[in-house]
Amino acid sequence: MLKRYLLAPGPTPVPPEVLLAMARPVIHHRAPEFAQLFGEVREDLKWLYQTRNDVLVLAASGTGGMEGAVANFLSPGDKALVVNGGKFGERWGEICKAFGVQVVELKVEWGHAVDPQAVADALKKDPSIKAVYVQASETSTGVAHDTKALGEVVRVREGTILVVDAITALGVFDLPTDAWGLDVVVGGSQKALMLPPGLAFVSVSEKAWGMAEKAKNGAFYFNYKKEREAQIKNQTSYTPAVSMILGLQEVLRMLKAEGLPAIFSRQTRLAQAMREGVKAAGLSLFPKQSPSDALTAISAPDGIDGQAIYRNLRVQYGITAAGGQDHLKGKIFRVSHMGYMDTFDVITALAAIEMVLKGLGHPVRLGSGVAKAQELLMVKS
Ligand SMILES: Cc1ncc(COP(=O)(O)O)c(C=O)c1O
Repeated sequence: MLKRYLLAPGPTPVPPEVLLAMARPVIHHRAPEFAQLFGEVREDLKWLYQTRNDVLVLAASGTGGMEGAVANFLSPGDKALVVNGGKFGERWGEICKAFGVQVVELKVEWGHAVDPQAVADALKKDPSIKAVYVQASETSTGVAHDTKALGEVVRVREGTILVVDAITALGVFDLPTDAWGLDVVVGGSQKALMLPPGLAFVSVSEKAWGMAEKAKNGAFYFNYKKEREAQIKNQTSYTPAVSMILGLQEVLRMLKAEGLPAIFSRQTRLAQAMREGVKAAGLSLFPKQSPSDALTAISAPDGIDGQAIYRNLRVQYGITAAGGQDHLKGKIFRVSHMGYMDTFDVITALAAIEMVLKGLGHPVRLGSGVAKAQELLMVKS
């Protein structure tokens, strides 16, 4: 028997309380019980998002929320500035093109964060840009962009909205939607929200709703205006993922009991211990700046295939992490610490990484990374 550990940057482990909540009998979505459930969940999502705006709940993976965040706000021929610093930045560009939106691409070298001044310059150069698309946490490289600074750049421009993919940021680090002026913020269930894949969340500011009024791109299933009309009545336009919403209710209760500051500091503590442990084991972090607290991207040592590390973690030790994507395939591997994670998830990951590397012939001193994480994570009594 090989015990399984899910340490991939999504899906992430689901707490037993949440699994149990989802195992409850399915309720009918037009029955009063659903409206009551959905009303509670909608309020708690506003708390999580730190917003007064409505947060739409969609039965979709995160990409569904992203698609709607293009289709509902822009018309064919409109211009969007896309920050492309990894696989998910690239996806914003692909979605824009699918809806006939002209893409002004701001390429950022993988492993780096976008320079907010470069965004400001691009908007100044082309005032017709109607939206800026970015990731708060670019999961393919493990880098966090400076969303706060981008909010400052965009909020002063009347005709431009800031659309943030917060799929691996929400519930990991502070991202106050209203205080930072983030117009559209997309989240997903299978990351720090500790749920299986299947729900997307989207908050929309008044400025963005104003843009939606004028947009001519068609969206049927992901029609945010229609969805908003239903959701403010605690209904959904179509059959919602009821069992997932039961799980979400439990997740939000758990998160509220912990409180946002405690959640963020737990996530930071784990991320720091992982990063310091990786370095103490003689390995290098892939991000050149601004590492995301959601996951750690680690460079494979010279002469060792990153895919072999990822594969051996799974096959030899039951740990599902992630490899690199596109040109980073074989060059990096990634380990998540977002969501339902604690001290021994980090220590387990570091121990297994050391064992795999030693097995692959890399001269790592067993326990070097683990000891560092133990020092950082031990409870000082
Ligand atoms: C930053 C980011 N954006 C978008 C996505 C896509 O989400 P999904 O696979 O749920 O459609 C992911 C998933 O890994 C992600 O990490």
